Amino acid sequence: MSIVFRVSATSASRARVDLLAVPVFSGRLLGPGAELLDEALSGGLVAFLASAGFEGKVGETLMVPLGDSGAAKAAMVFGLGAESSLSLEVLRKCGAAIAKRGSKAKSLATTILDAAPESIDRTAAAQAVAEGCVLGGYRYIEHKTKSTASPLGVITLLGGGGARVLAGATRGALISEATCWARDLANTPAADKSPEVFAKAAQALLRGKGVRVQVLGPEEIRRARMGGVIGVAQGSPRKPRFVKITYAPTGARGPALALVGKGVVFDSGGLSLKTASGMEAMKTDMSGAAAVIATMSVLRDLGVKQKVIGYAPLVENMPSGTAIRPGDVLKHRNGKTVEVLNTDAEGRLILADALALAADDGAAAIVDVATLTGACMVALGDKIAGLMGNNDSLRDQVQAAADRVGESVWPLPLPAEYKALIESEIADLKNTGTGGYGGALTAGLFLEAFVGSTPWAHIDIAGPSRASADSGYTPRGGTGFATRTLIELARSFKNPK
Ligand code: BES
Ligand code: MN
Ligand code: ZN
Repeated sequence: MSIVFRVSATSASRARVDLLAVPVFSGRLLGPGAELLDEALSGGLVAFLASAGFEGKVGETLMVPLGDSGAAKAAMVFGLGAESSLSLEVLRKCGAAIAKRGSKAKSLATTILDAAPESIDRTAAAQAVAEGCVLGGYRYIEHKTKSTASPLGVITLLGGGGARVLAGATRGALISEATCWARDLANTPAADKSPEVFAKAAQALLRGKGVRVQVLGPEEIRRARMGGVIGVAQGSPRKPRFVKITYAPTGARGPALALVGKGVVFDSGGLSLKTASGMEAMKTDMSGAAAVIATMSVLRDLGVKQKVIGYAPLVENMPSGTAIRPGDVLKHRNGKTVEVLNTDAEGRLILADALALAADDGAAAIVDVATLTGACMVALGDKIAGLMGNNDSLRDQVQAAADRVGESVWPLPLPAEYKALIESEIADLKNTGTGGYGGALTAGLFLEAFVGSTPWAHIDIAGPSRASADSGYTPRGGTGFATRTLIELARSFKNPK
């Protein structure tokens, strides 16, 4: 169920909701609305918090007895941390804490906006709180026979602020619901998301969203000379699809921003088979494609002025008698040939065709998102994405967008001296780097060979596409990572040329 946000100038004591959520700074410094709770405890709120061990750290929550005070049925406090470190990211985390603790309530109200200093724009704050509530409240319960969806349907931001603040909250909810769609797709078992089914889910999401959706089947993919997509898909009985989504708002001038996402619905490694444990998470190998499709679904409603085209090659990488073999050679859309030495380096093979198509379409810039290499996780761990590219302005735009939305990305180089590592004896390129060191970089260098002179950035999300434990507003499982960065990039994009 989706959450509706409201903005109201009502005081905390008058809020007629199931649960009232009041902030407390670290050191148990009471935030706005706490007077009501303090009254209910006859002036004993701080002592009550102390006896419960509640300090006011970000993420902490505690139910507080309200008695007959106020119009709310129940009350809780949540930690805001130190006043000096309050930020949009802290507000997202607080939103998550409120939505998680309040997940049994139908309606909730909070005074959190009045705790933010003047230096934080109230509209941006409302957006951040809404993001935290929706993202933090997310659970994937499709296959849990005993779980039911949270009844939480309405969250009221007290303190007022009117239409602009409401617009911020509504924007935050929209962006976060798109992110949750990407999470749902990543969490879906591979059995239930063949390329065909995935493409249908994309069409269903995008219907009525102001975009044109084209789904190419295997024959059309072949005719588009996408030898990489065909080659990777050929081991699976479940045929490939290629989804192209065009957002061209009236009045948009100039060439498009192209977004490309890796959509491997299951990566067994193919004949270069993965280990059992290496395969466990590989239903999420389509997270890049999900992020791109989710992004395309909100551009019209956010009023984005930039033309944007999304590209999502969807395949399954399986071993079989028809599978591509180590040593086979593929021909990509731009005519380049590739010797496939390891069938588990399949992401770059499908991306190569999609990148070449985006360049052919005359993109102003291309940004690809892919769960591409384990090596990127070795370099940056599982919470930080690697950022590479051939154009400083575009890379800076991606970095800045990611920083603004609170997604961690870090630059990695594309050293020309490593290009020799992907030279093949018999074809133009090979799909693995000699020696194996610097695997995130050789994968990036491989992709670079398919964008021509188009400004391009590559985000390797192998790590942060999936969370092994709950943290802040990111529950365990598929994270929808990069969706919010791509949306922010589309909103702020400037042609780098
Ligand atoms: N999908 C994997 C990368 C991956 C690994 C994502 C772990 C998330 C978690 C990718 O297709 C892959 O298998 N890459 C290989 C490349 C190698 C064979 C050159 C890798 O990283 O081991
Ligand atoms: Mn692989
Ligand atoms: Zn893969």
